[in-house]
Amino acid sequence: MTIEPVTAADIDSFIEYLNDHLADNGVGDRYFQPMPKGTSRVLPQMEDAFRAGLGIHVGKAGWRQVWVARNSGRKIIGHIDLRSRPEPFSEHRCLLGMGVDRDHRKSGLGTALLSHAVRWATEIARLEWIDLQVLSGNEPAIRLYLRAGFIKTGELPEMFRIDGQSLSYTSMSKRLTAT
Ligand SMILES: CC(C)(COP(=O)(O)OP(=O)(O)OC[C@H]1O[C@@H](n2cnc3c(N)ncnc32)[C@H](O)[C@@H]1OP(=O)(O)O)[C@@H](O)C(=O)NCCC(=O)NCCS
Repeated sequence: MTIEPVTAADIDSFIEYLNDHLADNGVGDRYFQPMPKGTSRVLPQMEDAFRAGLGIHVGKAGWRQVWVARNSGRKIIGHIDLRSRPEPFSEHRCLLGMGVDRDHRKSGLGTALLSHAVRWATEIARLEWIDLQVLSGNEPAIRLYLRAGFIKTGELPEMFRIDGQSLSYTSMSKRLTAT
């Protein structure tokens, strides 16, 4: 397994992987994205943000850095991305998103992707905080983030009404400490 940055040259295969990943959202009433089941896919504005963000330097509005984990056959089996926050004067922080392919979970890949991104944010990008939002029912993800040193900073109860269900949204943050 290798963890590599996504470049403009391989963004198409990444979007294809992400669409497949999102297809599981809501299956068995397990939601990991605030989107209705059966229609979860990479929306055009999301795809544009990924494509544009790869070419923007950290510190500038809209920057994004994406890494994928690939198996020995070069298949994408997980991803993690860091991106700028939309608010001005928050350039010392970033937002995180991630996922691991359905057939490769519970073997440490999520932990490896997370520590890779944290190391880059700390040592290369010199950021000070990573923030994220996670659906409150997504217990595997919350456990992973807590293990990696994120703390819960708040929760919006019943933030979303999706597929007839109320889904709450948990905010978490990790302070980065350069060594
Ligand atoms: C959340 C998610 C990224 C975790 O990825 P993962 O690769 O399964 O993460 P890890 O393998 O590092 O850890 C998951 C569990 O496997 C366990 N594990 C890790 N290596 C293991 C091994 N070799 N043998 C057995 N168990 C192992 C971990 O202890 C952890 O256990 P826990 O859930 O009881 O705490 C993954 O479930 C996922 O993609 N979910 C859908 C998308 C999603 O939720 N994204 C986040 C949105 S905010």
